[in-house]
Amino acid sequence: MKEVYQVPASQSLQGDVIISGAKNAVLPLMAATLLCRGTSIINNVPQLDDVDTMADVLRYLGAKVELQGSRLTIDTRECDGYQAPYHLVTKMRASIYVLGPLLARLGQASVALPGGCAWGPRPVDLHIAGMQALSAKVELSHGNIHAHAGRLKGADFTFPISSVGATVNLLLAAVLADGTTRLFNAAIEPEIDNLVDQLNAMGAQIFGKGSNTLVIEGVAELQAAEIDAIADRIEAGTYLIAAAITKGKLTVKQVQPSHLTALIDSLTATGALVYCEDDSITLDAQRRALKPISIKTGPYPLFATDLQPQWMTLCVSLAGVSQVTDTVYPERFQHVAELCRLGANIRVKGNTASIIGTPNLSGAPVKASDLRAGAALILAGLIATEHTDISDIHHLDRGYQNLIGKFANLGVTIHRHASHTTDCQTKTTPLLSLCG
Ligand code: UD1
Repeated sequence: MKEVYQVPASQSLQGDVIISGAKNAVLPLMAATLLCRGTSIINNVPQLDDVDTMADVLRYLGAKVELQGSRLTIDTRECDGYQAPYHLVTKMRASIYVLGPLLARLGQASVALPGGCAWGPRPVDLHIAGMQALSAKVELSHGNIHAHAGRLKGADFTFPISSVGATVNLLLAAVLADGTTRLFNAAIEPEIDNLVDQLNAMGAQIFGKGSNTLVIEGVAELQAAEIDAIADRIEAGTYLIAAAITKGKLTVKQVQPSHLTALIDSLTATGALVYCEDDSITLDAQRRALKPISIKTGPYPLFATDLQPQWMTLCVSLAGVSQVTDTVYPERFQHVAELCRLGANIRVKGNTASIIGTPNLSGAPVKASDLRAGAALILAGLIATEHTDISDIHHLDRGYQNLIGKFANLGVTIHRHASHTTDCQTKTTPLLSLCG
């Protein structure tokens, strides 16, 4: 059944939000459990569709997976499958994370190519080049990546551009390779550090955590371990931006403020007050005239591409002219047309959107084209007159745990109900579900 979120025009958000574990950390942590035979535990796991999809991929490969509360248990003792088929990979591109561990532990892997996404092509050539550098033979046929190796051999590999996904896959392969692997220009996102901690707890020998040169001394085998997933910096950032948009005051709790430096700096530059404590961030925009601030996304620690759509909604809501540039995904602007349906004034040229702010958005039916575009529309709905009905909300189920409950704690009642629109009004292509 198709459902919509109905977002009411809202007062200033007030209150606290407990931030969930990061799905972008949990998905690599789940794939890493394939590297051992044993029962691994991951704590602080959010209940999200993407986590369910990765659980299904692991079950397909022979694992037993159980989520109790936020504690995920994965038993890989009888896990011998090496194929991740299209019907699972097409639901979520992070399924490609099983390529590295399957190849490293079983000597072979066959994983469907994930294909493109709502904001353009999302290649996996670096994942493949990395496996080849570790001496794997890789063939692409019938939409699948087929990779074979006896035992992978350690090697030097330089990422021509920073890639979170390819760094994850290379780490997951190199830990069981024969000899030393050196990864240059590796991604340094906090989710990578979380993975390094887990792999080292399993017995891996990875050096250089937090830097863009990672040195991996391959080991013969790994054991199961227990790890806590880090907090979701994108979920935290989404709520902080929501507070700024509604001129409210809220505190995100159980977060790591140092993971959000670029956002905090940009929020402060708007004129909002931002206070950090050890594991919380408070934003106070009450009775303050904020100004729009231009941003440019980039690899961590620069402004996260996953917060770009939400930031654009903030710029839309503030009087003045600003620009939002996405250097990571230059075509990630599917939310622009929907924001314009609500009254926004945005022009896109190349990888830059120019925004003339307006305080006068009016509620309308709009469509979430992907996870973060959906988040941007929720935020816009908070300040639009009347109410905003957002369709294709399955995208939001992939990345925001208990969205209705968390907004209710902040004083906003978002309703979820069956869609009354016709199919042709809500039609999307299956590829759209790949983004995130
Ligand atoms: C990116 C974000 C990540 C976010 C995710 C979902 C960055 C650096 N990464 O991660 O934080 O959670 O989107 O929105 O901001 N690329 C290639 N070949 C490859 C792999 C990637 O050319 O094999 C390119 C991509 O097209 C992109 C850049 O590398 O331009 C970074 O991609 P990557 O970090 O791998 O993307 P995700 O892992 O999806």
